[in-house]
Amino acid sequence: MILKSSRKLSVKRMQKNSSQISEKYKDALVAKTANLQNISFAWHLMNSEDYERQVKAKGDMKTFDFIHMIQMIYYVDNLADTIKFYHSLLKNNGIVVISNRPANCGSDTLWKAYKKELWVDSITDRGSSEQVITCLKSLGLKYEEYAIPDAFDISECFNPNSQIGEHLLNFITSKDHFYQSFTPEIRAGMLDVLRTKCSTEKEGGVFYNINLSCIFVDA
Ligand SMILES: C[S@@+](CC[C@H](N)C(=O)[O-])C[C@H]1O[C@@H](n2cnc3c(N)ncnc32)[C@H](O)[C@@H]1O
Repeated sequence: MILKSSRKLSVKRMQKNSSQISEKYKDALVAKTANLQNISFAWHLMNSEDYERQVKAKGDMKTFDFIHMIQMIYYVDNLADTIKFYHSLLKNNGIVVISNRPANCGSDTLWKAYKKELWVDSITDRGSSEQVITCLKSLGLKYEEYAIPDAFDISECFNPNSQIGEHLLNFITSKDHFYQSFTPEIRAGMLDVLRTKCSTEKEGGVFYNINLSCIFVDA
C-alpha cells in the first residue's frame, strides 16, 4: 500500500511537470514550426487511463493512423488492457509504436541490483520491452521490434565534487538528491554497478547504456 501511494505521488509530480512542459512545447515549438501551422491539434493533457475512461464514457471512439507510446508504458496500471484499448483505436493500416527500455540496459541493471532502494518512490518494474512483447503475443497482435543502441557520457558521476555529476545521478536514480538519499555504502555500490555493469568505458569516458527497444504494432 505504501509503495502504491508513493508511486502515485511520483506520477502526480511527473504529470504536473509534464503539463508545464506541454505548454512550452505548444508555444515554443508547435506554434512556431512553419509546416505545422495549418494543422489543427486537439490536446488532451491527461494520462492514458483517463483518456480511455473519457472515450468509453462518451462512446466517441475516434480512430487514428498513428499512436505512439514513447517511454511511458511502465506508468500504466494495466499493461494488457492499455495496449488492447489503444490498439482498438487504430484505423486500418494504422500503427502503434511502443518505445521502451530493454532488459539489461543500464537502468534495468541498476534497478535490478538496487530494487529495494530505488523502487520505493519511483516507477515499478512493469513494462520492460520483454513484458510488452509477452503481452502482445498473448493478445495475438502482430509486431516488429527494433533495437536502438544509445549511450551517454556519465564520467562526471564519478567526481564527487561535480554538480553536473550529481544532477546526472539524481536523474539516473530518480531522486532529488543522490548524496542525501543513500548511505555511503549504497552510493559506492551503485557507482560501482554504474561503472562496471551499466556502462562501457571508451576514449577516457564512461558511457551509460541507454539502449531502447522500439516495437511497431500493426492494426
Ligand atoms: C519519460 S517521459 C516520456 C515523454 C515523451 N514521450 C518523450 O519520449 O519525451 C514519461 C511521460 O509519461 C507520462 N505519463 C505518466 N503516467 C502516464 C499514464 N498513466 N499515461 C500516459 N502518460 C503517462 C508522463 O507525464 C511523462 O510525460
